[in-house]
Amino acid sequence: MSTVEQRTAAVTRRREIGEVLLAVENIELRFGGVTALADVSFDVRRGEIRAIIGPNGAGKSSMLNVINGFYQPQGGTISWKGQRLRRMRPHFAAKNGIARTFQNIALFKGMTTLDNIMTGRILKMRASLLEQALYWGRARREELEHRAFVERIIDFLEIQHIRNTPVGKLPYGLQKRVELARALAMEPELLLLDEPMAGMNLEEKEDMVRFILDVNEEFGTTVILIEHDMSVVMDISDRVVVLDHGRLLADGTPDEVSRDPRVIEAYLGVVHD
Ligand SMILES: Nc1ncnc2c1ncn2[C@@H]1O[C@H](COP(=O)(O)OP(=O)(O)OP(=O)(O)O)[C@@H](O)[C@H]1O
Ligand SMILES: [Mg+2]
Repeated sequence: MSTVEQRTAAVTRRREIGEVLLAVENIELRFGGVTALADVSFDVRRGEIRAIIGPNGAGKSSMLNVINGFYQPQGGTISWKGQRLRRMRPHFAAKNGIARTFQNIALFKGMTTLDNIMTGRILKMRASLLEQALYWGRARREELEHRAFVERIIDFLEIQHIRNTPVGKLPYGLQKRVELARALAMEPELLLLDEPMAGMNLEEKEDMVRFILDVNEEFGTTVILIEHDMSVVMDISDRVVVLDHGRLLADGTPDEVSRDPRVIEAYLGVVHD
């Protein structure tokens, strides 16, 4: 699909933006003397593609780590579907359908594509080891169901041809796609994508953009996307959060933030006359 077609698809796609799914309020996160996030608040509505942009070190990845409970902020609150939490716990996040891909790919390099994606189903597997021993039939049936689900994701992301390849042997762009597949295996309500297109060539990027839009539209999955490529951000996101030095610099539609003088100065580096 060409970039022009993507633009058209982005503009004409049917919007089904719902109520607030996630809200972060006054988040403070420090590492020793370094302030990674200072008084950051924003919300994410069901069904939207919410971009987080900002220069290197702005606190974007840290924000995702706060949302999925990997980092415990010193201050602030997180609300999930209206439930106010002092902090998010990784297990709560995973159980509640918050899935994640990483800036640096985090896959089991020696395992095949298929097995890596299956690890995304672990929390959904009900049968314990004991049950597997006692009720072999039920555990077996459950495993077949999980495999069938994973096969659907493999078809969806068009990675049938690498299903049995160890991921360490795959080119970078495909490893990123496998990571997305594993996140989708969790059947997420909220998908956190940390630079899913970094390091990709143009064709790989266009594929990834299409998959993100497809996931959003066909499954209704809400997406938070960290991305440096501004044309992608402008094309596919509904609203954009701009961070700079750990602070919230702007929050609005792509059009609004791209016209905001503070954003232009801090992020786009355009000189005013
Ligand atoms: N685990 C950590 N320990 C110490 N400092 C950290 C840690 N994680 C993040 N930081 C610091 O917090 C700040 C924000 O980092 P973060 O990785 O969130 O930025 P980013 O916006 O994702 O940048 P990039 O675009 O380079 O990925 C940086 O100063 C970073 O060094
Ligand atoms: Mg980062």
